[in-house]
Amino acid sequence: MPRLDRAYKVAEMRRQARRVLPRPVFDFADGGAEDERTLGRNEAAFEDVSLLPRPLEGAAERDLSIELFGRRLSMPLMIGPTGLAGLFWPGGELCAARAATAAGTAYCLSHGSVCTLEALAETGAAPRWMQVFVYRDRGFTRELTDRAAAAGYDALVLTIDNQLLGKRERDIVNGFGIPPRFAPLDLLGMATRLPWLWRMRDVLRTLTFGNYVRAGRPSDIRTLAGSMAGLLDPAMSWRDVEALRQHWQGPLVLKGVLHPDEARRAIEHGIDGIIVSNHGGRQLDGAAASLDALPRIVEAVEGRMAVLLDGGVRRGSHVLKALALGATCCLIGRPQLWGLAVGGEAGVARVLELLRQELDRAMGLCGVGRIADIGPELLAGPGNAIIPKDRRT
Ligand SMILES: Cc1cc2nc3c(=O)[nH]c(=O)nc-3n(C[C@H](O)[C@H](O)[C@H](O)COP(=O)(O)O)c2cc1C
Repeated sequence: MPRLDRAYKVAEMRRQARRVLPRPVFDFADGGAEDERTLGRNEAAFEDVSLLPRPLEGAAERDLSIELFGRRLSMPLMIGPTGLAGLFWPGGELCAARAATAAGTAYCLSHGSVCTLEALAETGAAPRWMQVFVYRDRGFTRELTDRAAAAGYDALVLTIDNQLLGKRERDIVNGFGIPPRFAPLDLLGMATRLPWLWRMRDVLRTLTFGNYVRAGRPSDIRTLAGSMAGLLDPAMSWRDVEALRQHWQGPLVLKGVLHPDEARRAIEHGIDGIIVSNHGGRQLDGAAASLDALPRIVEAVEGRMAVLLDGGVRRGSHVLKALALGATCCLIGRPQLWGLAVGGEAGVARVLELLRQELDRAMGLCGVGRIADIGPELLAGPGNAIIPKDRRT
């Protein structure tokens, strides 16, 4: 049976999650678009970057904390938005947000959460961010934004790489639908999956996209899921970003930026931060790995806004590498879902703690005591190509 104390690394948490979840649910989270090249590349890109430690710098004391949008985070790592997190554990989003708060870091709620954004706010989890899309019905984008403001969300994330749904072929093969239905084959190795089925029995009956349930509208998840694709608008543009910038007073973050030109334009539009991301390889297969896209974006941004990164972060040293390449903070998607599946709030807490400990150790081994001291000097190999011009010899 899965045991949290035996999950000694994120990859082990994934292995355990695979054992406890019905195949279609595991694959829904684990999979990517088409041939999953971008998905694979996200993780592989970290292995192409090597570190050049300076142990004699002496880093007996390490401070992992950073400041992001005026709030102190205990480490440069937070939880990113993942739809249907409540499918992995009852109250999944609430559990993950509590774990993030207990770890001293931020949680970003997905538009497609099972709980409502108000219910999450009621947990007191903070800092809490809210993620939205540009919907065909622009009024709905504004409505969600207003609700997030009223519920005291600290930042708004506009995801820009989801204007059409990616082709997720594992879901096609598995016949994954919302709500999920399981064939006997999906439950193969039933003994390890029974606890999940039992735990989720009520949730599965009432599963919905909490934020989409509106007075006078259908709340049945099948109807909502069916209309979801139709809500997205491939015609979204910078004009929508402008409108949202005017509407939302707090920090506004664009998620899904890979091109340096878009990063530059984001600055011109008064955006406070971007998340360099390819949606965890779930959208455009063939898109660059987030880490590969990062250096040119950092160069274009020249420190004028926060540059966050997600995609393939599975080790504390991955966070260190992303920061050495100029990122401000990283986010995790799948790892928190694996943690949820294995142990609910305690599982997410474990994932965050594993990554924190690994980052702390990697910093100590590299001889850096503060996040601000992490820079391109720590990088060997391909990393050298991105050392800022004024620091190249
Ligand atoms: C199951 C699942 C659901 C997701 N739902 C959303 C979403 O609703 N909105 C969004 O902006 N990103 C969503 N993402 C993308 C994540 O925010 C993030 O970009 C990605 O998972 C990061 O890669 P990683 O999983 O390798 O950490 C989702 C990812 C997964 C795995």
